[in-house]
Amino acid sequence: MQGKTIMEMPQKTNKVKIAYFSGTGSTARVADTLERELTGRGVSVVKLEIRAGNHPSNDKEDLLILLFAVHAFNAPKIVYKWIDSLSSDNKRPVSAAVISVSGGGEMTPNTACRVSSIRKLEKKNFRVVYEKMIVMPSNWVVKTDDGLAIRLIERLPSKVERIVDDLLAGIVHRTRPKLIDRIFSRAGKMEKTGAKLFGKKIRVNENCNGCGWCEKKCPANNISMLDNKPVFGSECFLCLKCIYGCPNKALKAGIFKFIILKEGYDLRAVEKRMEGIKPARLEELAKGYLWKGVKEYLLEE
Ligand SMILES: Cc1cc2nc3c(=O)[nH]c(=O)nc-3n(C[C@H](O)[C@H](O)[C@H](O)COP(=O)(O)O)c2cc1C
Repeated sequence: MQGKTIMEMPQKTNKVKIAYFSGTGSTARVADTLERELTGRGVSVVKLEIRAGNHPSNDKEDLLILLFAVHAFNAPKIVYKWIDSLSSDNKRPVSAAVISVSGGGEMTPNTACRVSSIRKLEKKNFRVVYEKMIVMPSNWVVKTDDGLAIRLIERLPSKVERIVDDLLAGIVHRTRPKLIDRIFSRAGKMEKTGAKLFGKKIRVNENCNGCGWCEKKCPANNISMLDNKPVFGSECFLCLKCIYGCPNKALKAGIFKFIILKEGYDLRAVEKRMEGIKPARLEELAKGYLWKGVKEYLLEE
């Protein structure tokens, strides 16, 4: 992957729209941090969560920042749908930045995770000037060690500060993923079929008290309550919000159980567990190829 950074004459950025998709809270944390940083610098910010039924507003921003959690080397399906629903009759191109949030960082094949969303935005007459990866703890398959997770969480504000510096200074940063990463990223879209099945097979255990939290929170509107128990449709795209977020821990995966972290996924719980504890050295925490992207991210200035 090659990065290309050039300096442009900065245009005044007065109004920014942050549109974000977050399944389990990491990307929401990035969106909040970005909003705080921008408003602190006098920029007016509109923040919009991407979820079924939330349509793009018509008000014009100087810059759209699209943020999403990386799913199978891609943006989640709901993000592509959201871009498709944007109007394309802009008289002038609006600038856009695409920021992906992953557990593994900017490494093969994640480097191609922004390609499709950028292409779709360009078709809608956006001028994508900036792209970047933020790394947060992993919410699937392999747990990020608490020591590494807290380093990522604590590093977020300075990473965001840097992004805002770049955006307000008119720095253009685009990357060129390798062909092999693009191929993986395309193949990753097959995950969508598995996701539908995953949703259909979620099990409800005896802890369920019919509170309806999952129905309210599902970003795909895929859950409805029937006789006080959740029933799942075929719109699941595997964000895992319902499984990790259920207040009664009543939802369990019926298939693909290996993707669910036994300890759950909760950034605040990590922060609490790590209170007053000094994390081990990065070299000890991020050993091996799997954590290469995370290590590089944390070492990067
Ligand atoms: C179905 C699924 C697929 C994922 N695929 C990837 C991936 O391809 N690469 C990666 O680095 N992380 C992947 N992740 C991890 C998330 O991108 C990461 O944990 C992110 O911080 C989650 O953001 P959220 O809490 O806003 O949903 C995946 C997570 C899920 C649930």
